[in-house]
Amino acid sequence: MDRPSVRVCFTPDLLKYYKSSGNTNVVVVDILRATTSMCVAFRHGAKAIIPVSGGRDEIKLAVDSWQLAVGEYMVAGESDGIKLPYADLGNSPLEFSREVVEGKTIVFSTTNGTRAICESAAYGEVFIASFVNFSVALNFLILDKKDVMIVCAGWKGQFSLEDTLFAGKLAEALIHDGGFISGDDAVSASVSLWQRAEGNLLEFASKSSHYQRLLGIESEEGLRYCFEPPESEVLPRLESGRLVDWGIG
Ligand code: MLT
Repeated sequence: MDRPSVRVCFTPDLLKYYKSSGNTNVVVVDILRATTSMCVAFRHGAKAIIPVSGGRDEIKLAVDSWQLAVGEYMVAGESDGIKLPYADLGNSPLEFSREVVEGKTIVFSTTNGTRAICESAAYGEVFIASFVNFSVALNFLILDKKDVMIVCAGWKGQFSLEDTLFAGKLAEALIHDGGFISGDDAVSASVSLWQRAEGNLLEFASKSSHYQRLLGIESEEGLRYCFEPPESEVLPRLESGRLVDWGIG
């Protein structure tokens, strides 16, 4: 049997150059901060997350089409890192506590992360990963034996250091522990970057433009959390346009 391959797409703007093998698990990554916050929300008992690409109108459309009643859902999101003025929550992983999100559906809109999730749906089964759920995502992908495409959310179409570092860590483990083959040069580049940063991740990642942009918006604790969170066995998966937890909490 052919060995599955792993590819890395540095930004959603490059997705148009990729083809799905028809047997692909797509892993969307936005370390600062969307996929980290989403994993935390599920760890703390969120029922579902509806990723929205857009602002107030698109959020309202999602609420209406999912027929969400007041009290059943919350709106979370940011634009350029700043909490949306009409949202209940911003995009800090520290906001998504059990007291706040347990049992709730969260309609979520972010600058790059939710767009990457929505646009990835055409390429295979979509999962969400971050340092929160690295191990459970890795184990699932190895056992499932499908090709893997890691989609970095990036920043407004551009490369993001922190997403690429995570992509390198995941791709390296899939190749080393799961026998995957490397599908493109972006894999070699991201694995090399990860190997340089490993052991010094927070300091290395703190040079990224989005880390710098978030200074003054996100707390130091929140920024550190995105790289050094407690691990959890959540595995958010996109089903008919909404994320649900496939892991074991
Ligand atoms: C995004 O989707 O671009 C990010 O999650 C931005 C942020 O850090 O809030």
